[in-house]
This record gives sequence, structure tokens and C-alpha cells, in this order.
Amino acid sequence: MSIRLVGLQKAFGEKRVLDGLTLDVPDGDVTTIIGASGSGKSTSLKLVIGLIRPDAGEVWVDGARVDTLYDDALYDLRRQVGFVFQFAALFDSMTIGENVAMGLRRAGQLDESGIARRVRESLALVDLEGVEGRLPSELSGGMKKRAGVARAIALRPKYLLYDEPTTGLDPITVTVIDRLILRMRDELGVTSLVITHDMDSAYRISDRIAMLHEGRVRWEGTPDGLRVVEDPVVQGFIRGEPELWEDPT
Ligand SMILES: Nc1ncnc2c1ncn2[C@@H]1O[C@H](COP(=O)(O)OP(=O)(O)OP(=O)(O)O)[C@@H](O)[C@H]1O
Ligand SMILES: [Mg+2]
Repeated sequence: MSIRLVGLQKAFGEKRVLDGLTLDVPDGDVTTIIGASGSGKSTSLKLVIGLIRPDAGEVWVDGARVDTLYDDALYDLRRQVGFVFQFAALFDSMTIGENVAMGLRRAGQLDESGIARRVRESLALVDLEGVEGRLPSELSGGMKKRAGVARAIALRPKYLLYDEPTTGLDPITVTVIDRLILRMRDELGVTSLVITHDMDSAYRISDRIAMLHEGRVRWEGTPDGLRVVEDPVVQGFIRGEPELWEDPT
């Protein structure tokens, strides 16, 4: 059981965003997606949880074909998949405790004391003990990101998807979030798919890295493999040399 994207096609109007994207996300690993702005990274994550649907191709999560699921079946599947949004996306008028409890309430599996305990545990896992009663506006950017992670793990999902979890954070806080991603893998056994444009992070956290280019995976492998990659398109991206992005073929 894992996440598998097979031959995905997706266009928005005239714009073809994905053009044959195939990617396997091995269980228990942190897989990172890199690629230029607009290359379809966020679109790929949204396809994984069925927020949008492909024009063609298949999305498999945990043995289920997500792109053909609707309503209750889709909702049940999403419980297995936590999503950490690009901008923490906490509800400003709700306390941190209420934000983290939201999915648990909707799932209806735990009573109030069970929910309170799970909220406490989830906040402790991201080193945010005791902030249940605070509002998002009372937390720093890094704390908000961690609260977003606590909300995503509250349902104890098998899979965690992170859309640029370190964007806009200072280098120390980036390291904290990177460690947190590895901790979710090591302590909760979570399978993770992470979008990042921070190459230092990508090298630190990834078991596998995939680079999107022209709607599909241009290169895929380990961090060590990426360090010695010869493809000029991939080199151009990781070194920040845009003139090399143009595909000569
Ligand atoms: N709902 C939508 N309607 C129309 N166009 C969209 C929609 N979602 C995405 N796009 C377009 O698809 C392309 C890919 O978008 P996507 O958000 O997946 O890129 P990304 O790789 O995540 O980029 P970034 O690094 O800037 O976050 C962009 O050109 C974007 O404008
Ligand atoms: Mg994006």
C-alpha cells in the first residue's frame, strides 16, 4: 500500500500542466517533489487527495483508486492522508486546540476527553505543549506551521502531504520543520510526500527526490544521486541557472 500516480494528464483550459506524470511514493519514505514554479507540484498533491481530478491517468492511495472515488468513500480515504497546506491555513477565529480538533470532531470516533487527549499528544509531537487556548495570531510563523502539522497528524494518518512547509521561515525554523518531518516518519511511521523549493531541505529530509519538468518526472532518485546528476535541465534547476532549463531536445 502506498501512493502511486500513473500517467496523469491535467490541463486547466488551454494550459497543459501534467503530461504523463508517473510517480511511486514508497511506504515509510520521505519523497520530495522539486520543480520550477508552475510546474504542477501543488496540482499533483491536490490530485492525491481527490481535491481535483485528472483528465487521464490513475491515482492510487492505499490500494484505492482515488480519481474514481466520490463522497463518503473519498472522505474515508482522506482520513488516511494528512495535508499540510502551503500557508498554515489555520482558522483565525478558532483557538489552536479547536483547529487541531476539527478533523477529529468531524470523524466522530473519539469522545470529548479522547479528543482533548489526542490534541494534547499531537501538539506535544510538534513541541507545542500548552498552546491549545491561544489564537493563531498569537503564534509565530514557525509555530503556526507546526500547529498545521499537529492538525494534519491528529487523525494519525498513514500519509502526510506537505506543500512547501518551510517557505517564508528563517533558517533555524526551517531546520526545526525538517526534523519534524523526519520525526513523523520515524516515530509515527508516516509515508510523506513533500513539495519544497529549498534544496538544502530536500537534501536533508529526502529518501527519494523527484523533479517535475514539462508535466512529468524529469529525474528521480536519492539525494546522493541528485548531487552527481548529469542532465543539464536538472542541473540548471538545482543550481538556479534558468538558461539551462530550456530542453535542448
Ligand atoms: N484551479 C486552477 N485553475 C486554473 N489554473 C490553475 C489551477 N490550478 C493551477 N493552475 C495552473 O497550473 C499551473 C501549475 O500550478 P501549480 O500550483 O500546480 O504549480 P506549482 O508547481 O505548485 O507552483 P509554485 O511553486 O508556484 O507553487 C500554473 O500555471 C497554475 O496557474
Ligand atoms: Mg505550489
